[in-house]
Amino acid sequence: AKPAEPAKAKVLKAGADAAFAPFEFQDEKTKEYTGFDIDLIKAIGKQMGVEVEVQNINFDGLIPALEAGNIDVLISGMTITEERTKKVNFSKPYYRSGLSMVVKSDNNTLKSFKDLEGKNIAVQIGTTGANEAKKIKDAKVREFNNAPEAFMELKAGGVDAVVNDLPVNEYYIAKTGSKDAKIVGEPLNAEEYGIATAKKNTELAEKINKALEELKKNGEYEKIYMKWFGK
Ligand code: ARG
Repeated sequence: AKPAEPAKAKVLKAGADAAFAPFEFQDEKTKEYTGFDIDLIKAIGKQMGVEVEVQNINFDGLIPALEAGNIDVLISGMTITEERTKKVNFSKPYYRSGLSMVVKSDNNTLKSFKDLEGKNIAVQIGTTGANEAKKIKDAKVREFNNAPEAFMELKAGGVDAVVNDLPVNEYYIAKTGSKDAKIVGEPLNAEEYGIATAKKNTELAEKINKALEELKKNGEYEKIYMKWFGK
């Protein structure tokens, strides 16, 4: 008889657009995917007894990848919206966010979202930021594949502002030492992030909610939160 094979740990394939620090990004040295979302989904996997494998996928390709069954879950700073809820199941909210605007440090004319009328705005394609920017009267909205590209365009002077998630804007500015850019005005809205699973995979959605709840109870969520957002 053949020797029994060791039981293989089940794998949970998680998709993320890993250019959205501090939620998901590639560590420059180790090249590993890291961030708040990555730690959270790994902790959820551990809770469920499965191994988590992260796949880097463009933000606008994440829901299609989930629908095609190429990934099991997606965690990518994705805001729970009505429109997306038609296509995927979202977990209970795991992070409170909102949109803010970033301008060049030496810009003293753009002070709030009201001032963006008729201006050139950079956003990431497929995001809530893109949707909201398009509602601004006469604004010319340019869509980039990821947030760093939108910030680069601002730095290069190609646009007047970037509309993007507040915690990501804050992290970007902290990292660049606020030399090139600054956040102005109040956040435009309040949004909540959720972990998405395929519509038909309700069993997995339940397991994720359960694990999330457990991590909130046992202090693990708090630990991960403090690691990335603690002052
Ligand atoms: N919260 C925004 C949205 O859901 C932006 C998320 C972008 N995430 C990313 N990993 N690039 O549309």
